[in-house]
Amino acid sequence: MFQAPLPVEYMHLGPDESAERIARAKHTLGPRLVILGHHYQRDEIIRWADYRGDSLKLSQLAADEKQAEMFVFCGVHFMAESADILTRDDQAVVLPNMSAGCSLADMARLSEVEAAWEQISEVVGTASIMPITYVNSAASLKAFVGKHGGSCCTSTNARKVLEYALSRAEKAFFFPDQHLGRNTAYSMGLDPERDMVLWDPGLRMGGVEPEAMRRARIILWKGHCSVHQRFTVEQINRARAEHPGVRVIVHPECSLDVVQAADLFGSTEYIIRQIRASEPGSTWAVGTEINLVRRLQDELPDRTVFCLDPIVCPCSTMYRIHPRYLVWALENLVEGRMVNRVVVPSDIKADARLSLQRMLDIT
Ligand code: 13P
Ligand code: SF4
Repeated sequence: MFQAPLPVEYMHLGPDESAERIARAKHTLGPRLVILGHHYQRDEIIRWADYRGDSLKLSQLAADEKQAEMFVFCGVHFMAESADILTRDDQAVVLPNMSAGCSLADMARLSEVEAAWEQISEVVGTASIMPITYVNSAASLKAFVGKHGGSCCTSTNARKVLEYALSRAEKAFFFPDQHLGRNTAYSMGLDPERDMVLWDPGLRMGGVEPEAMRRARIILWKGHCSVHQRFTVEQINRARAEHPGVRVIVHPECSLDVVQAADLFGSTEYIIRQIRASEPGSTWAVGTEINLVRRLQDELPDRTVFCLDPIVCPCSTMYRIHPRYLVWALENLVEGRMVNRVVVPSDIKADARLSLQRMLDIT
């Protein structure tokens, strides 16, 4: 998404002045405004969030919030789109910086998925294939899935959604994150070699042999998160050698070997819950974004919490929500102007809502 440069009067705001102006604008807007913050946001942003959460929690909060007139979403573009899909038309969703996207979501475009669907259909038909999209995807893909009887999922509910799909269809077509799909299917007892195929959108027929396609239960899209693919089994082995008794917890966007080598895996909300509930004195190595890990470190000084990757790995797109952008978005709202409103086009909204609603119903 294109983001025009900030007006010059915002470009050089220092941290104190930004904080003061955010506080003032938030106070002026009062209950008309709700600020939603994803766990990967930096401290200078997350401190202003009325609600913090993972993708699922934030979608549910937006859907349940009936009073607010406007949501400022401190997260990435697909999250703001989900909020717009689930809220009423008279409730507006603003993303402070339009260039805060998600490189994983960008790995599956509608035209590619439609082409894949058609090619798969030539081999096995699509009558008994249920499409599932991870919420980390554009609204157009959510609409595609809604239209074809499928569901969204998040890292929290991927298993329930996949179980639902495979109890109603012979196969599931899972995009765009191969790792969440593979980890979830593996945890259900499916075999990565026999039951899963990997669809590469750059290759003819996705690079999948017809026989393998006929046999597969899950067709995985060749997408990945660049933050989570940095975690390795070697890092886990090193953490165990250097910190006897350490527990390793990772996000399911990590690869299968990493998830299998870890003690626990789950969404950002799950990771936080597990570490907060652990006994004082315990040690945790965490495979997810660094802002979340650092916050847990600060919040729980009686526990040792560190990132598996010694070279810190922030999500560069989440990081684009800088306090200056938040000041700019909020002060415009105070003035009765709306900058950076995220509006999902009406011709795809109903189908996209269907896939999100199906997910909320399943879970
Ligand atoms: P969660 O739903 O676990 O917050 O994950 C979202 C995400 O983008 C992880 O990279
Ligand atoms: Fe997307 Fe990965 Fe960033 Fe999550 S961490 S928002 S999946 S790029």
